[in-house]
Amino acid sequence: MQTKWWHGKVAYQIYPKSFKDTNGDGFGDLPGIIEKIPYLHDLGIDLLWISPIYKSPFADQGYDIADYQDIDPIFGSMDDFKKLKAEADKYGIGIIMDLVVNHCSDEHEWFKKACADPKSEEASYFIFREGKDGKVPNNLRACFGGSVWEPVPGQENLYYCHWFHKKQPDLNWFNPKLRQKIYDMMNWWLVDMGIAGFRVDAIMSIGKDPTFPMYPADSVGDGLCSCGVMNSEHVDVALNFLREMNAHTFTPHDKFSVGEVFGISKDNVKDFIGDEGVFGSIFDFSAREALTKHYCFYGFEKLSVKQYREVTFAAQETAGNTGFLAPVIENHDEPRGVSTYLPLMWQNARGAKALGTVNLTLKGIPFVFQGQELGMLNTQFNHIDELDDCQSKDQYDNCMRHGLSDTVALKILNDQARDHGRVPMSWNDSENAGFSTVKPWMKINQDYKTVNVKSESADPDSVLNYYKKVIALRKDPKYLKTFTYGNFIALEDPNEHTLAYLRQGHDQTIMVIANFGAEAVTFDVNKESTLLLSSGEVKLCTDCCKVQVAEGSSAIILL
Ligand code: GLC
Ligand code: CA
Repeated sequence: MQTKWWHGKVAYQIYPKSFKDTNGDGFGDLPGIIEKIPYLHDLGIDLLWISPIYKSPFADQGYDIADYQDIDPIFGSMDDFKKLKAEADKYGIGIIMDLVVNHCSDEHEWFKKACADPKSEEASYFIFREGKDGKVPNNLRACFGGSVWEPVPGQENLYYCHWFHKKQPDLNWFNPKLRQKIYDMMNWWLVDMGIAGFRVDAIMSIGKDPTFPMYPADSVGDGLCSCGVMNSEHVDVALNFLREMNAHTFTPHDKFSVGEVFGISKDNVKDFIGDEGVFGSIFDFSAREALTKHYCFYGFEKLSVKQYREVTFAAQETAGNTGFLAPVIENHDEPRGVSTYLPLMWQNARGAKALGTVNLTLKGIPFVFQGQELGMLNTQFNHIDELDDCQSKDQYDNCMRHGLSDTVALKILNDQARDHGRVPMSWNDSENAGFSTVKPWMKINQDYKTVNVKSESADPDSVLNYYKKVIALRKDPKYLKTFTYGNFIALEDPNEHTLAYLRQGHDQTIMVIANFGAEAVTFDVNKESTLLLSSGEVKLCTDCCKVQVAEGSSAIILL
């Protein structure tokens, strides 16, 4: 594998509306991010992915872009962006913008022109189709519910396609002119604005069949079929476009990209990452995918630690030495990782540290989501009005349509909602958690009095200080090579609740153990072994060549 500048990096995701508000309107903003750059530097972050900050009507919280080259006033101005870039540069932090080009907003100039004149150049940037026998063109279901087809305003029997919200019209990737416009825009950010790269949103959705045939209805019962089915049949279509994108943007400018891609297997992994891959990295969503397999909107089954271990390890083996995954436990589309993946007894600071050990020592480019470094748990939502996300609202309506009670619907959302990753960051124990001087746009997490940056900074034993230590260890020049390139080798699980593995480099081997069970586990080490870092209670006995890792504890050992 060719060596790349991003290989040894640690990344952090900011959900800007909920990171830090500086002008007292209840929404996070760019000056808020600027203010916290030293905090991120202190944490050890190299790359900063910022969820969309472009001009947007926020139908899908900024993933509906009205202008790709402007900043939404809620966040600040282009000048603020330049200041942010300069501040990040000072600390050697690279900015990663969110690239949302499967769709834009219905308030984008292109779409307005397209609707006004379906024969215009702009109309060819979208997917317009005529209805059939008074019905929409086919029976695909959008990701946020309902048909993917919506009437083109002001036109007779003409529909536009939207994989997500109806305010997110899909772009027509089959049009080479549109593709060139997208590459030009990307290069403006990459080269002129000097960002480090892009996180590439929902991109496999561009793998479409332009004839839009009918599909067999799936089990949901509305006569529709999930639009993802078409994508899974047309991965090659998407890959061809992505190869072209890569050749016009990331590769010539040596920039980083991380793709939002699901469904990776041994057969296709090399198409996505590594020397022949279209991305610098892709997120490891294996645990999320395993959850989704069990998932239907009225039932949600958690994974056991054993299942979590199996899928996480399988993903490591799939990527192997082909390329780099980006390990994640949560993001702005997910509930909190500690609440989702750990048994109830470890949904606390002790569990959060041990899970952090895993997130930061697997092979790949780890992404930490804002608040994860504090051990933030899910937020308790008591009323549907406390949730904001369009997908949560759709799920709630679905529950109602199927005759479930409000209590059951809220239970489902408290387990699953994307809103968990969208509540304000807890900075201190003052009112509004130090996020804002006014009541924020989303509820504050109930644990903010203790789980916040200020209290945790002062506590040597906090999750935050532990994250700092693991990141520092990972980046220590003595071990960086092993953590970056060392082979991943799975070790046996003695109690069905332990993730244990080796990271084997050329001249050193590091052992990682994270025990989420109810009793201690013991592993063999050797006489020269040293404990590099631990959380909870760990006893290393070099005389007897054993390490004992107590329940809820983790250890990183140089063998
Ligand atoms: C991605 C984003 C999600 C968004 C969707 C549509 O999955 O992470 O937040 O709703 O794409 O852009
Ligand atoms: Ca603000």
